[in-house]
Amino acid sequence: MTKPFGMRRNLPHYGDRDFSVFLRKAFIKAMGYTEEALERPIIGIVDTHSGYNACHQNVPELIAAASRGVMLSGGIPVPFPVVSIHESFSHPTSMYLRNLMAMDAEEMIRGQPMDAVILLGGCDKTVPALLMGALSANIPAIMLVTGPMLAGSWRGERLGACTDCRRFWARYRAGEIDEAGIQAVNYELAPTIGTCSVMGTASTMALAAEAMGFMLPGSASVPAVHAERRRLAERTGERAVALAAEGLTPDRIVTPASVTNALRVILAAGGSTNALIHLTAIAGRAGIRVDLEGFDRLGRETPVLVDLKPTGQGYMEDLYKAGGLTAILRELRPMLDLDCMTVTGRTLGEEIDAAPAPFDQQVVRPLADPVYRSGAMAVLRGNLAPGGAVIKQAAADQALLQHTGPALVFEDLADLAARIDDPDLDVTPQSVLVLRNAGPKGAPGMPEAGYLPIPRKLARAGVKDMVRISDARMSGTAFGTIVLHITPESAAGGPLGLVRTGDTVCLDTAGRRLDLLVDEAELERRRAALPAAAPPDERGYRRLYLNEVLQADGGCDFGSFVPAQTKVAPV
Ligand code: FES
Ligand code: MG
Repeated sequence: MTKPFGMRRNLPHYGDRDFSVFLRKAFIKAMGYTEEALERPIIGIVDTHSGYNACHQNVPELIAAASRGVMLSGGIPVPFPVVSIHESFSHPTSMYLRNLMAMDAEEMIRGQPMDAVILLGGCDKTVPALLMGALSANIPAIMLVTGPMLAGSWRGERLGACTDCRRFWARYRAGEIDEAGIQAVNYELAPTIGTCSVMGTASTMALAAEAMGFMLPGSASVPAVHAERRRLAERTGERAVALAAEGLTPDRIVTPASVTNALRVILAAGGSTNALIHLTAIAGRAGIRVDLEGFDRLGRETPVLVDLKPTGQGYMEDLYKAGGLTAILRELRPMLDLDCMTVTGRTLGEEIDAAPAPFDQQVVRPLADPVYRSGAMAVLRGNLAPGGAVIKQAAADQALLQHTGPALVFEDLADLAARIDDPDLDVTPQSVLVLRNAGPKGAPGMPEAGYLPIPRKLARAGVKDMVRISDARMSGTAFGTIVLHITPESAAGGPLGLVRTGDTVCLDTAGRRLDLLVDEAELERRRAALPAAAPPDERGYRRLYLNEVLQADGGCDFGSFVPAQTKVAPV
C-alpha cells in the first residue's frame, strides 16, 4: 500500500485510495521532493503576501523563517496563497471581504493535504478571517502575525498610523498646518512595513489572538522589522510540527473561557471596537455566542491599562519594550482563567509563570493606577439601538458622554460627503450628527465611516469633538464621542432610519442608553411611511454577502457559516 504523505490518514479519495495517493505524489514529486520527505509531517503555511498589502511585506521572510523551523523539527513546509486584504485598498470595504478570506482559508486548509497549518496574518481583517477559517476547518493551527510598524517622527514629534493620520488631517482641515507640512507628515505616518503602530484593530487582534492562546507567548507586539519577529517565525514553525503530532485542534483553544480572556485583554488594551465584532465572529465559528451585556459587565470591571494611542500616548514598539502582552496578563491575572490551553501545549497560567521576570516600565499600568478607570467600551441599548450599540468611552471627550442635542441626519455616505463642509449647514457643537445606511448591508460592508468629520466651519472655530451616531464601524485608531454598530442597522429596518433632522437624541453613557425622544405613535407613523425595500438586484459574491451577512451582534459573519451557538461568553 502507498503511504499517504504527511500524517493525515483521511485524505479524500475517489474509491481507489492508493491510486489517489500515487497520483498526488507524482505531481508533488514534480517539485523535486523525495518519497522520504513526503512521509514527514506536512505543515501548510498560509501566504498572505500581496503587492497591495504594505502590512504583509515581510511575509516572504517570515515564511522562510517558519519553513526553517518546520524543517529543524523534521517537517516539510508547504506555503500556499489565500486572499490578502489591506485596509486601504479594499473596495467597498475590507469588512465586506473578510468573510471571503475566511471562506478561502477554510476551504484551502481543508482541501489540501496538511497535518497542521501556520496562519500568517497581520492587517486588520486578516487575523480574524484566518482564525474563522481555521476554526471551521479545525486542523491543528498556530498563528503568526506580521507585527507592527515602527513609529515615525515629524519636527521632533512621534507619529504613526493611523491615530496621527486623523489628528494631523484635522489640523490641516482647521488651517493649522500648511500643504508642505501635511505632505511631510504623509511620509512619516507609516515609516516601515508592518501593521499600524497604535492600538488599532490589527494590534488589538494580535493581542486577542495571543491571549486566546493561538500564538507563541510574546509574539503580538514584536515589530515587523525586528530580528525577533523572524526568530518567532522559526519557533512557530518548530511548534507547528509538534502541534500536528499532538493533534491539538483550534476547538480546544477557543472556549468560552479563552474568549473571555481575549475580551478582557481587548478592554485593558483600550482596543478597537472592531475587535468586538471580530471576536464575536471567531467565537461564533466555535459555537460560542458573545453576549453584549456580558461584554459590558467585563468593561465595568476591566480598566484600560495600556498607555497607547488612541486612548493613551505610546506606540506598539513601546508595548514590546515594556514586555508585550505578558505585562498586561500579569496585571489582569486575578480576572483571567489561567487553565485555558494554548498552542504551546501549556496553559495560559503556565506561560505567564514561564515568561521573563517583570521590570519597571510605564506603558502597562497597574490595576490600581489605570489609564482610564471606567472600561474602554460600553454597550448601549435604547429605542434607537434595540439590538445594541457600542461606544469607546475611553477615547471620547468625557464631557460629551452625557449629552442631549438636536439630530442632524445624513442619509448615506454620499449625502455626508456632499453637505458636511457646506458653509450654510445648520449645525452647532451641540448637534448630534447622524449617519445611516452605513451598516453591514447598507453601504454595504459596514465602512469605517462612524468617525464623521467635524463640519469644517466648526473645526475652524476650534471644535474638536461632537456626538456622532451611526450603524457604521470606526477605525480602532480614531478618537471621539462616537456611537457605533447601531443594531439593527437602518437598511435592515432599524429605528435609526426613522430619525429626522431636529429630533432630540439623548446619549446617556452612564445609564447605557441611546434614545430618540420622539413618541412611539409618531415613530410608528414614520415607519409606516417608509418605502418598501426593493430586493437587491445583485449577482455573485455581493448577492451572497447581502443574503448572508449577519448584523454586528452576530459578528457580521455569514449566517449559514455559523454552527449552532450552544455556548456563551463571557463566562
Ligand atoms: Fe494594515 Fe492598519 S492598514 S494594520
Ligand atoms: Mg484599522
